[in-house]
Amino acid sequence: MIRKAVFPAAGLGTRFLPATKASPKEMLPLVDKPLIQYAVEEAQGCGIEEFIIITGKNKRAIEDHFDCAYELEDALTKKGKKELLEQITNLNKINFAYIRQRAPLGLGHAILCAKPFVKVEPFAVLLSDDVIGLNETLLAEMVKVYNRYGAPVVALERVAHADVEKYGIIDGVEVGPGLYRIKSLVEKPKPKEAPSSLGVIGRYIITPDVFEVLENLPPGKGGEIQLTDALKIMAQRGPMYGVLFAGKRYDAGDKFGFLQATVELALRDSALSERFRKFLFGIVDNERKIFRGGD
Ligand code: UTP
Repeated sequence: MIRKAVFPAAGLGTRFLPATKASPKEMLPLVDKPLIQYAVEEAQGCGIEEFIIITGKNKRAIEDHFDCAYELEDALTKKGKKELLEQITNLNKINFAYIRQRAPLGLGHAILCAKPFVKVEPFAVLLSDDVIGLNETLLAEMVKVYNRYGAPVVALERVAHADVEKYGIIDGVEVGPGLYRIKSLVEKPKPKEAPSSLGVIGRYIITPDVFEVLENLPPGKGGEIQLTDALKIMAQRGPMYGVLFAGKRYDAGDKFGFLQATVELALRDSALSERFRKFLFGIVDNERKIFRGGD
């Protein structure tokens, strides 16, 4: 069973400056929930019981978000706002551990910080800026693959040729529909050096032997301790699998992806969708006129 999940949240979020100068990227809201809450709820839905968040400087708001808020709870109780109160207090019931990554030395280093809490169990890793559509079952499928093979599993997406430079790219063979046995990985290759167009996205099931690999890993691309480099070594030592995700995923750590995710989630929100759809139609009509006028 996968009981523990690690949420690395110590990155600098430079793609979203200035918003992320003093506030965590993971607290950016999509409609009314911060990015990290979507990831936490996704993990909860897969039976995760222990939630380990890797924080850093300027990330205090994440701890406050998942903590009790007595004054707010009291005010909501007095005003009889039951539904809101329930939404807020549900978060207090989750078991969180926080570890501070003292400097943003890379995703691999962030995962290594979780070692004292993960100990010797396999664990999930969720990058909360990769937002997976609400009704998708990606993590659950990955858990199933792990339970079958007992080997690390990463989530994959087919990426555009020009975009391979933004991802860890795998070299592998398809061993079942949408299931790949991974032979190797390369972090952010140049398009002509990419072994495939299958990029790793922010969901992983990792076995605890990763810690020993990370402890001995020299800095890789960008001078950072790269998780991809550790996974590459593990793939050379034993089996590793990739689950191809064909559903919707948004890189909400990037401005464009964030806007896409906001529109998508607003359209799925029953309280907003009708009004928001009409608003979008209006915008689109208007933009079309302007666009045509400019031709
Ligand atoms: P990103 O590649 O999105 O980096 O990290 P970033 O620093 O957060 O954002 P940009 O690229 O500068 O805009 C992927 C995940 O790994 C975490 C981030 O918080 C994010 O969830 N991370 C990255 C760490 O926890 N520590 C690090 O040292 C680096």
